[in-house]
Amino acid sequence: MTAQILDGNALAQELRASFKERVAALTAKGHKPGLVVILVGEDPASQVYVRNKVNACEAVGMHSEKLVYPADVAQSVVMEKIAELNADPQVHGILVQLPLPKHFDEEAVLEAIAAAKDVDGFHAENVGALAQGNPRFIPCTPYGVMKMFEKGNVDLSGKEAVVIGRSNIVGKPMALLLINAGATVTVCHSRTKDLSFHTRRADIVVAAVGKPRFVTADMIKPGAVVIDVGINRLPADQGGKLCGDVDFEGCKAVAAQITPVPGGVGPMTITMLLANTIEAAERNAQQEAGR
Ligand code: GUN
Repeated sequence: MTAQILDGNALAQELRASFKERVAALTAKGHKPGLVVILVGEDPASQVYVRNKVNACEAVGMHSEKLVYPADVAQSVVMEKIAELNADPQVHGILVQLPLPKHFDEEAVLEAIAAAKDVDGFHAENVGALAQGNPRFIPCTPYGVMKMFEKGNVDLSGKEAVVIGRSNIVGKPMALLLINAGATVTVCHSRTKDLSFHTRRADIVVAAVGKPRFVTADMIKPGAVVIDVGINRLPADQGGKLCGDVDFEGCKAVAAQITPVPGGVGPMTITMLLANTIEAAERNAQQEAGR
């Protein structure tokens, strides 16, 4: 068997084309969607992610701003800026790029963002709504994965799903989304005793581990759907290329459907950030119209 490739680039393009129309409609009514991205420090990977987010907004006609602070900035300075943005009617989405420098209380910063502008879906109120099965903002990466399942006609109801990774950004919200869709979900992580025992019986495997080619073909049940959330750079002596958490070549021969890296989940993450920001602007416009 050779797996069908779930193409994130193609789906991202399709969705972004439809966003242009929604942005144009909002802009015509005086509600141009606006996203502010806050970056603290000079982490090179974060700089690339933030630049890509801002450029993607502009490509669909949204307003976007990047605010950069030095790594040693006081938390109170960022908190004051967030309070200002919460009150700014032109700003529909606020995103603080993670990780933050060590002297920051990450949770306090995320809680300071107005829940209605929390387009990352990391505020406790939004996490709670997702856990209750009534999501308001869904974290962008797992949201993108759900869109890929939909596009690939992957039926989740009654399926055995294994999520590898328990982060607040990917693993936990991914597990909640799969539960809400009717899957039987196992969350594995660094303390899991026998990972292969779990993955070998899974119909769906989502890998969010952060280790290059960690998931190998022998860990996958024939006919499974394999989703690779990892973005790792191989060392220079191995070619320096980007690769995922899944051994793509090996797993492709066993799985029924698989996402590549690059060109799989990656482009969907920013796409769903745009979706959440447009959604925030639409809700805001509706509220104003009802006043
Ligand atoms: N760092 C890595 N992924 C993310 C994300 O989805 N949102 C934010 N804010 N920071 C991140």
